[in-house]
Amino acid sequence: MHGDIDRILIPRQKIAQRVHELAALITADHTPPRLAGSAEVTIVPILTGAMVFCGDLIREIPIAMKIGLLTVSSYPGRSVSSQGVQVIQRQLENVRDRHVVLVDDILDSGNTLRMVVPLVQQMGAASVRTCVLLKKDRPAAREMAVDYVGFEIPDEFVVGYGLDFDNYYRNLPDIVTLKRDVLEARP
Ligand code: IMP
Ligand code: MG
Repeated sequence: MHGDIDRILIPRQKIAQRVHELAALITADHTPPRLAGSAEVTIVPILTGAMVFCGDLIREIPIAMKIGLLTVSSYPGRSVSSQGVQVIQRQLENVRDRHVVLVDDILDSGNTLRMVVPLVQQMGAASVRTCVLLKKDRPAAREMAVDYVGFEIPDEFVVGYGLDFDNYYRNLPDIVTLKRDVLEARP
């Protein structure tokens, strides 16, 4: 697995530092006086990619929260953006009148958030905010408004810290690029 790495783009220490900062921003936005009313917070990782990021993030947000889960379909084995995004499983306890923070690993084409944000809005959430660890430097991603962004990265395919290639490499602790022959070896 480690032999497949081309280079480390974001090392684990930098990720941890940024996760800490994002958690502070999310905490401030969901605590009085910035948050009016009594509505509570539900954090929703978009699975499977946001699993690792969200696990670290929520442990640095010291407010009452519930966790919801949304699993969206991913592309099989290819290093391309999501195409026809589909929700394949949702475990969203009633989010009506709750403040929802959707957490995703990476913003690429924006198709995932474009589909998922209205879904949660239609369920009657009090507010819907979005948080991505990575945002790719490409026009489609630049056009999307996201509330919390960890890092802007070049338009390259990355894995690790939850991000996968053909469902592998999620357990790498750093965010890395893969060698060209590894990417080309799979369909
Ligand atoms: P979007 O819907 O195109 O914005 O992309 C979101 C999803 O595409 C992410 O949650 C990932 O599952 C996948 N994705 C996009 N770019 C990458 C990448 O560089 N590495 C791994 N997965 C990616
Ligand atoms: Mg994903």
